[in-house]
Amino acid sequence: MSAAYPKTFSATKVGPLDLKNRIVMAPLTRQNADADGTPTDEMTAYYARRARGGVGMIITEGTYETDDLNCKAYLSQPGIANRRHVAAWKKVVDAVHAHNVPVIMQLMHGGRVCDPRCLKAGEDPVSASSGQSNGWVLYTDTDDEKQDRGIDGDWPKVTFPKARGLTEQEIEKIADGFAEGAVRAVEAGCDGVEIHGANGYLLYQFIHPATNLRTDAYGGSAANNVRAAKLACERVRQAIGPDKLITLRLSQDGVDDFMGAWPGGVEYAEAVGKALADCAADALHWSSFDWTDNRDPNSDEPMPSVIGRSSGKPMIVNGGIAEGADAEKVVTSGAGDLCAIGRPLFAHPDWPHIIRSGEAYDWTPFDRKYVICPPVDYAHCYPADLRRPNWNPDLSSRRN
Ligand SMILES: Cc1cc2nc3c(=O)[nH]c(=O)nc-3n(C[C@H](O)[C@H](O)[C@H](O)COP(=O)(O)O)c2cc1C
Repeated sequence: MSAAYPKTFSATKVGPLDLKNRIVMAPLTRQNADADGTPTDEMTAYYARRARGGVGMIITEGTYETDDLNCKAYLSQPGIANRRHVAAWKKVVDAVHAHNVPVIMQLMHGGRVCDPRCLKAGEDPVSASSGQSNGWVLYTDTDDEKQDRGIDGDWPKVTFPKARGLTEQEIEKIADGFAEGAVRAVEAGCDGVEIHGANGYLLYQFIHPATNLRTDAYGGSAANNVRAAKLACERVRQAIGPDKLITLRLSQDGVDDFMGAWPGGVEYAEAVGKALADCAADALHWSSFDWTDNRDPNSDEPMPSVIGRSSGKPMIVNGGIAEGADAEKVVTSGAGDLCAIGRPLFAHPDWPHIIRSGEAYDWTPFDRKYVICPPVDYAHCYPADLRRPNWNPDLSSRRN
């Protein structure tokens, strides 16, 4: 019996990297690092387990690249800002590489939605323009965090301080921060980096017209709005050379605006894609909770198709891909070259093996903090030798 979803499980190349299949683990913040941003042994085990589960590549959770300019967004977020971080990430990367899986590190600056508890005393958060986020609902069922933040109610809202707009000189410094973090990520053994331009954080705040009110070279048009992200990619490329993968993640919604849409919809996406055609990133990564929903009443074309077409770049497509058939649709419909899988890989590290066997995947419920409520017994996992490239599931011999 041949494996299900042949294109999803076909080998491919992205930038300089060879991947055994087209399934990528999406970046997923877990806040499992030490308070000083040092990755923990728990993180090593978590990533190694997902590498063993059959993914073609891992993108790490969003990691802060520097201690400067209020980059860190979350408590217990990992950093790649110093030697201690490099040494601890090396353990994670080595454990992933032991399964012959490449890993790139997502680098992010939180901008105006950094957890206020991460900001340096007396300093304002920074953004594309001065302004304040509308805040977000705290998805937690525990009282500790509410108490810590001094908020209450069933759906309490976290507020953020007013941010100040960055100077052009500081934008250069931010880009250099990404480059310095990328060099450290490579020192830790990473096969490349992803620049986070999505989900409400700093570079998204430049790319989204609602949060970028600048009138200089960094605002006012799609080409200007992506300039800061392009500069970061360019500086990273100069710093880590051509042999490492660089991806740039994009989205139209963000952590403080889950239903967010780019004004202009598909037309704006097309202009963003065109402006990124000569970007130093090897591939672009569309982030969403449903990649088929472009939130544009005037067009049916999914955003990753639009951006892939107008940029000419390979696309990683993310959002709501829960079944093997969903993944196969992405890679056979021309929407993208790779699928990035988030919540299903929280739920089961063997997700690639499960769908490859052709079995239905049981969508798993999450609580409000995205803690998995597994319907399956984790101890009952696929055998480790599944990483053999010639492994082929034979369901006919399976006990029912
Ligand atoms: C708890 C949680 C943490 C996340 N952390 C990150 C992150 O660090 N960086 C990022 O770009 N996206 C992050 N995301 C977004 C996911 O990468 C992905 O876009 C989202 O889960 C939708 O994909 P899915 O339908 O496959 O889960 C996070 C999502 C969740 C639920």
